[in-house]
Amino acid sequence: MDFATKAIHVGQDADPATGATIVPIYQTTTYTQAAPGEHRGFDYSRSINPTRLALERCLASLENAAYGLCFASGMAATAATLNLLAAGDHVVVGDDLYGGTFRLFDKVLTRYGLRFTYVDAADPQAVAAALTEATKLVWLETPTNPLMKLSDIAAVAAVCKPRGVRLAVDNTFATPFLQNPLDLGADLVVHSTTKYIGGHSDALGGFVATNDEGLYQTIKFHQNSVGGVPGPFDCFLTLRGVKTLALRMREHERNARAVAAFLEGRADVERVYYPGLPSHPQHELAKRQMRGFGGMLSFVPSGGAGRAQAIASATRIFSLAESLGGVESLICHPASMTHASIPKEVREARGVSDALLRLSVGIESATDLITDLEHALS
Ligand SMILES: Cc1ncc(COP(=O)(O)O)c(C=O)c1O
Repeated sequence: MDFATKAIHVGQDADPATGATIVPIYQTTTYTQAAPGEHRGFDYSRSINPTRLALERCLASLENAAYGLCFASGMAATAATLNLLAAGDHVVVGDDLYGGTFRLFDKVLTRYGLRFTYVDAADPQAVAAALTEATKLVWLETPTNPLMKLSDIAAVAAVCKPRGVRLAVDNTFATPFLQNPLDLGADLVVHSTTKYIGGHSDALGGFVATNDEGLYQTIKFHQNSVGGVPGPFDCFLTLRGVKTLALRMREHERNARAVAAFLEGRADVERVYYPGLPSHPQHELAKRQMRGFGGMLSFVPSGGAGRAQAIASATRIFSLAESLGGVESLICHPASMTHASIPKEVREARGVSDALLRLSVGIESATDLITDLEHALS
């Protein structure tokens, strides 16, 4: 089955009880049993819920995964993945990443005895050099948030496999429509479904997929033990959103290409970060590893932080807001918003300057979006 068909049908057979064509919102916490322990596979909604199960099956199919688990947010999915580790374990992390993920690693999980080393994961040899006897996991975003850097997933997997180190890829920016990390050798793929998968900025969610039954069972055990699960209504919204993921991603990309070309042509823009531009240092890797370049881009206008903040406040169609991946266009100033939880000196050493702006290019008219940016820039 092709992607667009799976997004609409997998896990979404007509409801066995009523024939409802659309998976119902099973707004129940519990299930009536015929006799003690005798039930139809559903006992309590923290453990299992039919609406969540439909979403888990659908998203797993989109990542070509045997198993998938949904969570209340992307951060809950990330935390559940890190629950695979124990005190004393070491993790190698790509150094350009979502500020909230850095905060979880640096401020929360270090208190539980996990240790993290940050490297430039665009270079697989830098990942290899950071591995120690204690390393159990490599964590990558590709493309990264917010600098749009890529990692060669197959090359990093080839470094990890012989050492028995697991590779997890946060695939939120690319989405399964553009990239399938498990097919490239990753062991785990993680998403904030809050973003493109849900697609309408109205439901938080997270997702983890794997082909390894042992990893699945352990994360499922933690999903139930910790309880960071999404409610049935949020699962319903996400399932409705994912049906149009293929259509939306094509439009996001078409608009992002136009916006990136517009920005690159401006004399008052110093740098544009978009993997679809031939000027992107990893454009060839993007063409090889991804099936398109997506809807996210960042840029540095000339004039420093003051002008960047003025631009972010001047757009009319691009909303100044955190998050990304919805149908509406958003502009963000990472240093004061999504990446404010990273100390300034660490952020700047990684290239996230106070003058950087990030765009989530929506699916409005490209002409209107460019007119809006033209006005804000001038
Ligand atoms: C790449 C990436 N991963 C994970 C997350 C966390 O997701 P959530 O906000 O759904 O917890 C975000 C949020 O912005 C993100 O951008």
